[in-house]
Amino acid sequence: MLLTSDPANVRHIMSTNFSNYPKGPEWKKQFEFFGDSVFTFDFEEWKHHRKVIRSYTSHRSFQQFAGKIVRDCIEIELSSVLDHVSNQQIVVDLEGLLRRYIYYFACCISTGYKPKFVGLAFSEDKFLKATDDACDAITARYLAPESIWKLQRWFGLGKEKRLSEARKTIDKIIDDYMSMKQEEMSKGEIRNDEEDFSALKGYTTGNEIFEQAGHKVIRDSTMSLIFAIEDTTSSSLSRFFWIFAKNPKVETKIRQELEKIRPVTEARESSSFFSEEEVSKMVYLQAALLETLRLFPPASMLSKTAVEPDTLPSGHHISQNTMVVISAYAMGRVRTIWGQDCLEFKPERWIMEDGRIRHEPPHKFSAFGSGPRICPGKDVGLTLLKTFAATIIYNYHVQVVEDRVGAPKNNFMLHLDHGLMVRLNKRWTKCFYHLKINSVAKTKFIVVKEWKPYKVKPRSLQTGIKMVTGLVAVFEDEP
Ligand code: HEM
Repeated sequence: MLLTSDPANVRHIMSTNFSNYPKGPEWKKQFEFFGDSVFTFDFEEWKHHRKVIRSYTSHRSFQQFAGKIVRDCIEIELSSVLDHVSNQQIVVDLEGLLRRYIYYFACCISTGYKPKFVGLAFSEDKFLKATDDACDAITARYLAPESIWKLQRWFGLGKEKRLSEARKTIDKIIDDYMSMKQEEMSKGEIRNDEEDFSALKGYTTGNEIFEQAGHKVIRDSTMSLIFAIEDTTSSSLSRFFWIFAKNPKVETKIRQELEKIRPVTEARESSSFFSEEEVSKMVYLQAALLETLRLFPPASMLSKTAVEPDTLPSGHHISQNTMVVISAYAMGRVRTIWGQDCLEFKPERWIMEDGRIRHEPPHKFSAFGSGPRICPGKDVGLTLLKTFAATIIYNYHVQVVEDRVGAPKNNFMLHLDHGLMVRLNKRWTKCFYHLKINSVAKTKFIVVKEWKPYKVKPRSLQTGIKMVTGLVAVFEDEP
């Protein structure tokens, strides 16, 4: 095995000599959980499935459908939970919460159906638990000799046992969605593209993008798509909030940017959602997210296997069947690539002098992979990250209550090891105040700078301080 973080090697392996570096049989063995899908295929099969997924994610109806789902997901579902958490002053695991709602998005996009968990219940979700168990087992396969994990699989022990149970759980979930879709079809109740432009609908109806496929390919492709969206996006977003809480200057700049797009005077009682058009104007927020992905790429390692012997630009000889591993995590921390300050979190490095985002080549910034296999959901993923981040930051103060070191899980996906325990405080409150001139009581939305535990005996109309269920709100401007 050869591990590299040299951009010249990455370009060679991922692009220039792409046909010599498929994922290969070794990868397929370790990641067999993903079955028959674009993730596991190589060569002609991969080309076909890649074309399908590219046509799908770049289709106009996909963009509209994704836009509608993200709005429902944030404005209707997530906001009510965040408001509840904030009103009740509950300490929550933000990573867990984000995972559930990004899973909501991923499930709707992939199947056309909402997952069942949605609401205020914080019970464990079966799909997410199954993918966690699968990732743990796949990581263990990576680290242990093949004979060990094969023996465990044979006897049905430990992580291998959980892996096989996880696969059964997920198969059952996707099979149920497939039956629902087939029932819709048999009753002639197929929803129009605005209501359902899911991959599962495409596969089931065999529309112009998805020609009909066998049961296993449909099931594996649907499951893999949910995973591709959920795991990467939620891991990036949680890590972003972990960094965000430690960087008050970055927080101030993001708020300034958001308030320029949506002035505070327009804040409404319901949480403000940012449209795709508004999100596209957020340069500093995008820079902060790219900087998070540079330092913490969720898919930290990408591996390929050489078909023929080869020599890399670094001069290293590669024998046939050698596995080459690209460490996207290491690449984000190399001085010769990013400069002396490579370990610092500096969104400014992504902003050019003219104020636009700097585009780094993917063989240098590999969070989305590079070459023909580069992530086809990159733009959707970035928009999703920005929409979630902007809505939460604009409407709530995020206060991390357990400041752990933020170590990543020992896993091929870079989730936070202990989640991210936070308290959320709503930034807007409706406030009664007296106009000094004519003493008329009015209501107005006020920006809350900070919620503090009740300390002083408040006078109901004391300027700038108002008691709210045991907490006092300190306002940014005097009402
Ligand atoms: C922050 C979000 C995301 C990150 C960091 C990310 C990252 C990646 C990476 C590193 C790969 C592997 C590339 C390789 O094997 O060389 C990948 C593949 C893939 N991603 Fe994403 N991804 C994200 C979001 C999404 C979204 C939203 C979608 C779908 C709408 C998606 C769909 C896929 C698919 C289908 C593949 C397999 C491509 C292939 O093998 O040809 N991803 N992604």
